[in-house]
Amino acid sequence: MKAAVLTHYDKKGTELEIREISTPIPEEDEVLVKIMTAAVNPLDNMIIRGEVKLIVPYAMPLVMGNEFAGVVEKTGKNAVRFKPGDRVYGRMPLKKIGAFAEYAAVKETALAVIPEYLSFEEAATVPLTALTAMQAFEVMDVHAGESVFISGGTGSLGAMAIPVAKSLGLHVYTNGSGENEERVRKLGAEKFIDYRKENYADVLSGVDHVLDTLGDRELPNEFKVLKEGGNLVSLRGLPNGRFARRSGMPLFKQLLFQLAGSKYDRMAAAKKQTYDFLFVHEDGSQLDRIGRLFDKEHPLETSIDTVFTLEEINEALAKVKQGKSKGKTIITVREQ
Ligand SMILES: NC(=O)c1ccc[n+]([C@@H]2O[C@H](COP(=O)([O-])OP(=O)(O)OC[C@H]3O[C@@H](n4cnc5c(N)ncnc54)[C@H](OP(=O)(O)O)[C@@H]3O)[C@@H](O)[C@H]2O)c1
Repeated sequence: MKAAVLTHYDKKGTELEIREISTPIPEEDEVLVKIMTAAVNPLDNMIIRGEVKLIVPYAMPLVMGNEFAGVVEKTGKNAVRFKPGDRVYGRMPLKKIGAFAEYAAVKETALAVIPEYLSFEEAATVPLTALTAMQAFEVMDVHAGESVFISGGTGSLGAMAIPVAKSLGLHVYTNGSGENEERVRKLGAEKFIDYRKENYADVLSGVDHVLDTLGDRELPNEFKVLKEGGNLVSLRGLPNGRFARRSGMPLFKQLLFQLAGSKYDRMAAAKKQTYDFLFVHEDGSQLDRIGRLFDKEHPLETSIDTVFTLEEINEALAKVKQGKSKGKTIITVREQ
């Protein structure tokens, strides 16, 4: 089968190679998925640059790709939740990615059935960002009626986090560039701040939760708008001790990350707030729950920016690196 392979980490970024490799054989608890569509994320470029190797170290050569939609081809002996022909989607397990390929063997616990109203292209845009949002809201322990500020919500994370937050009954505030205001308001944002014209720190205060996508440069202001005792979950800041303990990391990594994130822990402690870093992991049952939050009458709105083929993977990665996305960058692996 054809697959897009990373041969080595490179701080400046490097191209993936399209290679002919053996089709994987599913383990007993795995399902062989015929990949129809995969989606590209900033995370893929971070993996290439070696920026997440302390969190998940990968052996080379590595078949890349973190999320997909496809069809069950074959099931392992103990994988009983799915049958051949089922339409499934998921975030690849952290320890074994590989969605930029014609087939992938995936733990069945990472998979969910695709809601009927979503095409393969639309479905591939969902898992990584929807799971990120859901996992962040779980860490925050959100309740209906509370408010959340999602920074940079005009990007692909916001496209999923805003409707998921809305469906959980949260009041959503976000910022981004003005040309995207109408789109994110339609998704459910109640307040929109154009970061080129206004600083959200001058407009917002007393927010119950903050979901940060911008990292270091914005964290001090994000803590400022957060209420005393509120929670901030960052997708971009430094990992901290709470993250390492929650992820069940060995003691030396817990100590390492405790040190790395201590600056933000101190910022949070000043107003009895909490700081958590999050690295999204696979979870088929959580993806099922996300699917159930929406239905045909109130569908999960997906936004697709550009569609590439597997052979064009390096153009797709360059597109995502550029930012300025109007939705997800998609890889069509085979004719649909
Ligand atoms: N840790 C995890 O598990 C995890 C999971 C998912 C995502 N992430 C991270 O989350 C970040 C966002 O992901 P994404 O997929 O949404 O990226 P994206 O599609 O590239 O979107 C980034 C958005 O940030 C906005 N932005 C840039 N500078 C800004 C500023 N100063 N103020 C407000 N908004 C600003 C941009 O807005 P305009 O284009 O409107 O200017 C853009 O829409 C990435 O760094 C990604 O790696 C992490």
